[in-house]
Amino acid sequence: MMCLPASPRALASRLGLGLFVLLCLGIGQALEKKVVRSKVGEEVGLPCCHEIPSSDSLDRYRVYWQKNVREVVLAYSDGNMISKHERYQNRTEMDPWNLTLWVSPVGILDNGSYQCIVQRNSIVVCDESVILFVTADFSKPNITAEVSADSCESTEMVVTCSSHGGFPKPRISGTLNNVSVEWDASWVSESSLSPYNVTGKLVLNVTKDINITCSVEHSGFSKSTSLLIEKTNDCIVPPVPPPYNVIIASIIIVITFILAITLAARYLPRHVCSRCCKHQDSVEEGVKEYTKTSMSSKLTAETSSV
Ligand SMILES: *[C@@H]1O[C@H](CO)[C@@H](O)[C@H](O)[C@H]1NC(C)=O
Ligand SMILES: *[C@@H]1O[C@H](CO)[C@@H](O)[C@H](O)[C@H]1NC(C)=O
Ligand SMILES: *[C@@H]1O[C@H](CO)[C@@H](O)[C@H](O)[C@H]1NC(C)=O
Ligand SMILES: *[C@@H]1O[C@H](CO)[C@@H](O)[C@H](O)[C@H]1NC(C)=O
Ligand SMILES: *[C@@H]1O[C@H](CO)[C@@H](O)[C@H](O)[C@H]1NC(C)=O
Ligand SMILES: *[C@@H]1O[C@H](CO)[C@@H](O)[C@H](O)[C@H]1NC(C)=O
Ligand SMILES: *[C@@H]1O[C@H](CO)[C@@H](O)[C@H](O)[C@H]1NC(C)=O
Ligand SMILES: *[C@@H]1O[C@H](CO)[C@@H](O)[C@H](O)[C@H]1NC(C)=O
Repeated sequence: MMCLPASPRALASRLGLGLFVLLCLGIGQALEKKVVRSKVGEEVGLPCCHEIPSSDSLDRYRVYWQKNVREVVLAYSDGNMISKHERYQNRTEMDPWNLTLWVSPVGILDNGSYQCIVQRNSIVVCDESVILFVTADFSKPNITAEVSADSCESTEMVVTCSSHGGFPKPRISGTLNNVSVEWDASWVSESSLSPYNVTGKLVLNVTKDINITCSVEHSGFSKSTSLLIEKTNDCIVPPVPPPYNVIIASIIIVITFILAITLAARYLPRHVCSRCCKHQDSVEEGVKEYTKTSMSSKLTAETSSV
């Protein structure tokens, strides 16, 4: 039934694909399904399998647009809308000639398989599925680098790449100076049908300048960011040795100074004193000697005079 083209136009387009025969032989019916992609917030048209000829009118048809087999999105009978799903209220419209289902704005929950069934006078004209793949773009990845340990030869860094608000669950990949690297990835999403936030982490030993790239991708979508991390050379003025040298030098200077003061305090005043004392003593002695001599000479004179 799926192989019966509903109109010459559809037949032409199918023959054009060259897959028509294979599909009708039943080899891989899944391949036959049309696929339409749309981004959240956009308008999308899901094609049906029949175009009403201008000589005919929608009044003579029944059209069902269903989702995931059971859920009726929209139904027309005798030219009137007979059913409309609440979730699609004010978001759907059907083209009255080619029966395309227009959805705007598209939401993540609209992702799924849709089926268009067309009947004319209770006879099925066509029944075809179309898959709607809904995607949402991720934000441009944001890379940040934080130093976790630093030394003269290498700097250990925690590099984080994050992107948010996309759908479906993405892959996160990267390169480090052109060589691919594996991010330690984690995903957050409120449910399997909610936007995802993705975060990748890397612990790097930076020994030279590096150029790191982070890419977030899903079916046909990819966004990436690069970050240049420069290894700052801390070795020009080695940060560890100076304190030791300074401390040792300071200690030596302080000890020398204290020693100098101690020595000065102990010997310098005495030296000065002993010098001046000796001088005084010798003067006194000289005087005494002089007195003694004069006295003795006096005495001698006295004695001689006696
Ligand atoms: C159906 O018609 C609309 C305009 O009325 C057009 O934009 C759309 O491409 C058509 N779809 C198909 C499948 O022919
Ligand atoms: C659809 O639109 C009408 C008027 O434009 C509004 O009254 C109604 O609440 C809307 N329904 C939903 C589900 O948004
Ligand atoms: C979207 O719908 C298709 C078709 O039903 C399904 O294969 C796919 O897994 C769905 N995507 C998500 C993210 O659920
Ligand atoms: C990147 O992430 C950092 C830290 O989380 C934040 O401060 C900065 O604003 C972000 N930049 C962009 C462009 O989002
Ligand atoms: C590295 O990048 C340069 C351009 O920046 C490119 O020409 C070269 O092929 C890349 N090497 C590898 C191994 O990917
Ligand atoms: C994802 O990230 C955005 C922006 O950073 C934030 O507002 C939102 O709450 C996050 N979602 C989840 C499920 O964590
Ligand atoms: C980083 O490299 C230095 C020497 O280059 C090494 O001593 C250190 O263990 C490395 N650290 C890590 C986390 O690989
Ligand atoms: C980093 O590498 C990426 C691709 O590998 C390249 O596009 C970008 O220009 C490079 N950035 C710098 C600053 O070298």
